[in-house]
Amino acid sequence: MEREKWGTKLGFMLAAMGSAVGLGNIWRFSFVAGNNGGGAFLILYLLFVILIAVPLLLTEVSIGRKAQSDVVGSYKKLAPGTPWFLTGFFGVLSAFLILGFYSVVAGWSIYYFTNYITGNFATQPAGGYEGAFGMFISDSWQPLFWVALFMALTIFIVVSGVKKGIEAANKIFMPILAILLIFLAFYSISLEGASEGLRFLFSPDWSAFSEPSIYIAALGQAFFSLSLGMGAMLTYGSYLSKEHKLPGATMGIGLMDSFFAIISGIVIFPAVFAFGIDPSSGPPLVFITLPSIFEQLPFGGIVGLVFFFALVLAALSSSVSILEVPTAYFMRVFNWSRRFTSVLMGAIMFALGIIVSLGFGIWSGVTPIGDNGILDSMDYVASNILLPLGGLTMALFVGWYFTKQQALEATDFTGSAIGNVWYIIIKFVAPILIILIFLNALGFI
Ligand code: PHE
Repeated sequence: MEREKWGTKLGFMLAAMGSAVGLGNIWRFSFVAGNNGGGAFLILYLLFVILIAVPLLLTEVSIGRKAQSDVVGSYKKLAPGTPWFLTGFFGVLSAFLILGFYSVVAGWSIYYFTNYITGNFATQPAGGYEGAFGMFISDSWQPLFWVALFMALTIFIVVSGVKKGIEAANKIFMPILAILLIFLAFYSISLEGASEGLRFLFSPDWSAFSEPSIYIAALGQAFFSLSLGMGAMLTYGSYLSKEHKLPGATMGIGLMDSFFAIISGIVIFPAVFAFGIDPSSGPPLVFITLPSIFEQLPFGGIVGLVFFFALVLAALSSSVSILEVPTAYFMRVFNWSRRFTSVLMGAIMFALGIIVSLGFGIWSGVTPIGDNGILDSMDYVASNILLPLGGLTMALFVGWYFTKQQALEATDFTGSAIGNVWYIIIKFVAPILIILIFLNALGFI
């Protein structure tokens, strides 16, 4: 059977941006920034995006495009007879972990959307937005329904195939979300007390840099947000033909993704301070902040409705790229149909989602890592460890296994001066930085 392909390069760009832009930019960015001191975190995050993530994004996409295969198959094809393919399994494992909790948060978003349809959240529910959210997520059954619905939608798009499903869906989702966020950012800045939030986000507290955890948190966020290190971008790159040039496309994706994160920060933090919400509220942060903004807005009920709709779509365009990673792999290895494979993978992820969801209710006392609950622990392992490890191996693969000429050719950089800079980054700078950050997190430096 012939492998599928994107319709156009723009189709690939939109799908890759759709993968990058999602709950990571809005939900994860704000709570991780909130937990890690705001401004100092933002500086490190942007630094890592420029110095590590964007060059690696190009690297990852180019591996897929060159090999025209999935995350494990690509290594087998490009480095036959070597153990490199084993690193691909990190990617497959990360996909299960990430979609396991991503689907839960996306389920919460669908629930919010429906509450705006019914008008329930137009005014503060009894117990306030925070209380209502806490009640909802700690329920054993109700959140699971929304997780299941989200997984079903994700599977549906993945079954529809690369071009028709993923590509078409993204063309509509992205612009709506961007426009809404910009509009909300202006509104949030105009709130009384907004300046404190802006200061939190943009003027760093230098003492925060002495915390080792901030480095690994910023690295993990850069990887998570750019969908990097697990093979989602590799797999998307594998549906791309050789005639499309890569460097510009990956720069564009990086810029767009950071733009969404910063704009979300400008929406969330002024409101957090204006409404007296704790910036280190963790995963619930946006779910308690945003409704408070919408409540104050004229026609806020409608804005909330459109916002959560766009958020769910953004989450979907990311979740399909996550499900696509094991789907592409298992389809090839076992010769299963796309439909069967994606349903099976989705079902396993849903099972993980059940565990994550119960972690906010009956299993709220379960703390696998430190005092982190189930969601935070899975997120920590996947985003802060597995993704950077995946990225590290990709950098080493292209930087050291390929010849320089092969590396430049794979990324359309032959004869380009920027190409040399990129090569030095992925051969030396990015791997060394990632290793240093790991050592630092482990307490060695
Ligand atoms: N980048 C996506 C987001 O920000 C999440 C994601 C992570 C997607 C890893 C694919 C791979 O929401």
